[in-house]
Amino acid sequence: MKVRVGIVGCGVVGTGVVELLIKNGSLISKKTGAHIELSKVADRDWQRPRAFEVPQHLRTTDYRQVLENSDIVVELVGGKDFAKNLIIEAIEKGKHVITANKHLLAEEGHEIFKKAQEKGLCVGFEASVGGGIPIIKAIRESLVGNNIRAVYGILNGTTNYILTRMLQEDVNFEEALKEAQEKGYAEADPSLDIDGWDSAHKIAILSFIAFGGFFPFSHVYVEGIRHIDLLDVELGKELGYTLKLLAIAKRRDESLEVRVHPTFLPEDDPLAKVSDVFNAIMVEGDFVGKTMFYGRGAGSHPTASAVVSDIVDVARRVLCGQRVDWEERTYSLSNNFYSRYYLRFDVPDKPGVLASIARVLADQQISIASVLQKEKVCKLAGREGKHIVPLVILTHKAYEGSMRKALEEVKNLPVVVGKPVVIRVEEEAE
Ligand SMILES: NC(=O)c1ccc[n+]([C@@H]2O[C@H](COP(=O)([O-])OP(=O)(O)OC[C@H]3O[C@@H](n4cnc5c(N)ncnc54)[C@H](OP(=O)(O)O)[C@@H]3O)[C@@H](O)[C@H]2O)c1
Repeated sequence: MKVRVGIVGCGVVGTGVVELLIKNGSLISKKTGAHIELSKVADRDWQRPRAFEVPQHLRTTDYRQVLENSDIVVELVGGKDFAKNLIIEAIEKGKHVITANKHLLAEEGHEIFKKAQEKGLCVGFEASVGGGIPIIKAIRESLVGNNIRAVYGILNGTTNYILTRMLQEDVNFEEALKEAQEKGYAEADPSLDIDGWDSAHKIAILSFIAFGGFFPFSHVYVEGIRHIDLLDVELGKELGYTLKLLAIAKRRDESLEVRVHPTFLPEDDPLAKVSDVFNAIMVEGDFVGKTMFYGRGAGSHPTASAVVSDIVDVARRVLCGQRVDWEERTYSLSNNFYSRYYLRFDVPDKPGVLASIARVLADQQISIASVLQKEKVCKLAGREGKHIVPLVILTHKAYEGSMRKALEEVKNLPVVVGKPVVIRVEEEAE
């Protein structure tokens, strides 16, 4: 059976998809029995040179030509408004849709999936999370027999590159960001990546499929890495931890925690070893236990590979008439996380300081696991001989609500200078 596929948006990913379908089309037909015919490719500018030349007869500047000539419409424009209208229009015209648009799906996926379900159509979105890593299919199909307990990982290559450079080369955040921009790993405006929003969009999508339901994206806790001080990366290393920007979704009873924040991991944790622009995702299921998925989280070819896997998947569904059902379930998110904490306070170098901070923590039932010796800290920070020194406290597991209350009080102690640094620590052993 022939399946006509049209693409709107021929940039980094769109060009990769055209290249893959043209170069490997017959291989795909042989492997799957589906003959994928590229029908039309729309973009608003065909003058711009591309990494792969799109055949003239496929090009158009009018997205409606794609809608008219395709069974499957692939949205690779990005952004929200135009992309959403395009997808809704395609669904209304009875077209299956494939998109890599994590921003749109995280914030408006519920409406889009519902609309497609009403029409008995598929929405493929493998490329929206983890680039070439087949994580969506793994959770939806390979791990379908499991109650998923947690999905977490490194979902943004730009921030992972920056943190890797800070850890390995002792460069500060600004220098590492500049390097990432020079290498093309970070955008000129890097805020979506470094402020954690890209990871948040992806973990929201993973939560929808792992836990079978929806929640408002605005309820996700999001903290990026812009404020990370090299001193804390180094102190963490001294304590045996590696700093990563983790996106975490966990089920606790009937509530969900979905959060993105800088996190210390034990240096021998498999995620701690994921460096540079690579992504990795852990999925924990009640029968399978822990599984880890690793690979390139972005780029033209890896992402095109994921888009094409959706095309073939939908083509097969078209062939055999299957449809995808979504659970109509909504979650409210819990913000009272339960985690260990790394705390750094700038304090005067005099007796009694630790005792006064420890008292406030104890009042909130937060117990201290270890304290980093001030002398050692001063040496690391190059702050010897100064009157104000950093004091690092690692806590046992505590509730976020208790920690916030304790920090409010600690901030008011006369011995604490400036804002305390708080980094969550993920490790199994207490
Ligand atoms: N790049 C990656 O590695 C990657 C990885 C995973 C997911 N994604 C997702 O994939 C999607 C596409 O990303 P990308 O990196 O390929 O973006 P891109 O390089 O900016 O490509 C988007 C293309 O769509 C064109 N376009 C914009 N508005 C249009 C319109 N109204 N009609 C027709 N064409 C239009 C753009 O033209 P102009 O340049 O003139 O605006 C551009 O050529 C995004 O949702 C992104 O989040 C990307």
